[in-house]
Amino acid sequence: MSTDTNSSTKGWTPARLASQEGKTFLITGANTGAGFEATRILLSKGASVVMLNRNAVKSSAAIDSLKQEFGEDVKVSFYVMDLAALSSVREAADSVLANVPHIDALICNGAIAQVAKQEFTVDGFESHLGVNHYGHFLLCGLLYQRVEESNGRIVVVGSEGYKMGIKTIQFDDMNWNKNYHPNNTYCHSKLAQMMFGYELQARLGKAGKGVKVYVCHPGASKTSLINEKAGLASRIIFSLMAMSPMVQSAEKGAYPEIMCATEENLKQRAYYGPSGPLNWVGPVGECKLESFALDRDVAAKLWTLSEEETAFSWSL
Ligand SMILES: NC(=O)c1ccc[n+]([C@@H]2O[C@H](COP(=O)([O-])OP(=O)(O)OC[C@H]3O[C@@H](n4cnc5c(N)ncnc54)[C@H](OP(=O)(O)O)[C@@H]3O)[C@@H](O)[C@H]2O)c1
Repeated sequence: MSTDTNSSTKGWTPARLASQEGKTFLITGANTGAGFEATRILLSKGASVVMLNRNAVKSSAAIDSLKQEFGEDVKVSFYVMDLAALSSVREAADSVLANVPHIDALICNGAIAQVAKQEFTVDGFESHLGVNHYGHFLLCGLLYQRVEESNGRIVVVGSEGYKMGIKTIQFDDMNWNKNYHPNNTYCHSKLAQMMFGYELQARLGKAGKGVKVYVCHPGASKTSLINEKAGLASRIIFSLMAMSPMVQSAEKGAYPEIMCATEENLKQRAYYGPSGPLNWVGPVGECKLESFALDRDVAAKLWTLSEEETAFSWSL
């Protein structure tokens, strides 16, 4: 496809999506928001979707609504997986490996954001870093072999926030004990996810593996990302922003991750998403990527630390 970011072009839309019959997609955090919309669009093209969600009740409700839309035979299921608990990620990965023989794409979509006060995951990590980065780092590692056997790909859902925080990894205080800040910690975790994606690309390339890794962002989309965990000011600001044309639907927010999960001839070491004003809205294509996200020294250090913290070693 063209990765032209010229705003006069329409960019990637699901109109480009051929039948996905026979393909299986795994999506984290798919009961709502962009992950749910990605699920809907993929199901509408005949794919199987396995959702990895933390809440069984919300997951069942999401599946009920998908069955109403597409019929009882729609190929959607879920496993409970809480990215805030490494043991839960391990259990979910075990279930997937036992029951899902083929993974065409693993889409790392689930996230938390703008948590007002410092919180910790079950394993003691600052919550944004633990859920958004460490949880996915472990999940990708545990499922990698199945993705490789399937000639599949991994999609990292980043954020424009990667360039709105401290623009590096805060190795001397990964839990932000000294300077906790709801936005900076979110941005830090999204940068960590993206650096993991680019580092994984590089390591797979060096190892001669065919698995592709793509990094994207959803722009600014109307979802439930800013919820009761966020401070009042953040909630007011985001609800006002959501009324402006600079914020798009959750469905449009799903386009980049679907594109990265399905489209041929995308580039590695690239960054895909809405490419219009501020990269918040507009045609989906290639966006400018800041060089600090590609810093191999920082990424390698983060990789080693992530292996230690998750007690998982990649064989790459
Ligand atoms: N919306 C935007 O403007 C925007 C901008 C930049 C980047 N993004 C990125 O887009 C992606 C999708 O977010 P969204 O906007 O669609 O937000 P969303 O509506 O809040 O969806 C996030 C999903 O992640 C799940 N999740 C949260 N914590 C989890 C955990 N511990 N374990 C498993 N799942 C968990 C949520 O589950 P629950 O329903 O149980 O909470 C939900 O299903 C995220 O990676 C986000 O960082 C969004």
